[in-house]
Amino acid sequence: MKFFVDTAEIEEIKEFSYMNLVDGVTTNPSLIAKSGNDIKDTIKKICTLISGPVSAEVTANDTNEMIEEGKILHGIAPNVVVKLPLTWAGLEACNKLSNLEIPTNVTLCFSAPQALLAAKAGATYISPFIGRLDDIGISGVDLIEEIRAIYDNYDDLNTLILAASIRNISHVTQVAMIGADVATIPPKILKELVKHPLTDIGLKNFLDDWASTGQKIK
Ligand code: E4P
Repeated sequence: MKFFVDTAEIEEIKEFSYMNLVDGVTTNPSLIAKSGNDIKDTIKKICTLISGPVSAEVTANDTNEMIEEGKILHGIAPNVVVKLPLTWAGLEACNKLSNLEIPTNVTLCFSAPQALLAAKAGATYISPFIGRLDDIGISGVDLIEEIRAIYDNYDDLNTLILAASIRNISHVTQVAMIGADVATIPPKILKELVKHPLTDIGLKNFLDDWASTGQKIK
């Protein structure tokens, strides 16, 4: 499973890029607003740090305007993936951009039929929002499982499942077990993946025992 980092903060991306920990980046209009920076400058800077897919979202509602915005965003760097909302207009724009070989990420997916439509429209990625479904008492992980089963039934559906709106480390484990192609993970959760209390206790014990030997390796 690929790891994308879900942020528009350059400093956070730098932190993960140096050890090749992340394969790509996802942004959305809320994350750009939170960063306080210009979308085009931000995406350009991210693309200098990350050579993998970088999702940048259109903000128009109309198909033709989405296509125009998508072309501008993809023009920033060849690895920019155009993120489009799961509406009829978004699907139509997805289909047209896909025909132009511009990669797309259809976002705000909350159901299996929506994921099926996005795949039929030629989406490169589908982004089911698992945390936001959990928030309303519906299992987001179950949705990933449904989409995986549906896409695996048909050789002609090649859309990649990008598990989004991840809120905890258990989400990461569960979507990896199901076989999501990508998880886009907020920086805070990405850092938490390394933590386990038994690792900390075990390391302390090893180092205490080592100190008692008086030995040094160098
Ligand atoms: C990523 O592509 C999504 O925009 C993001 O994961 C949404 O996460 P949220 O539900 O925590 O805002």
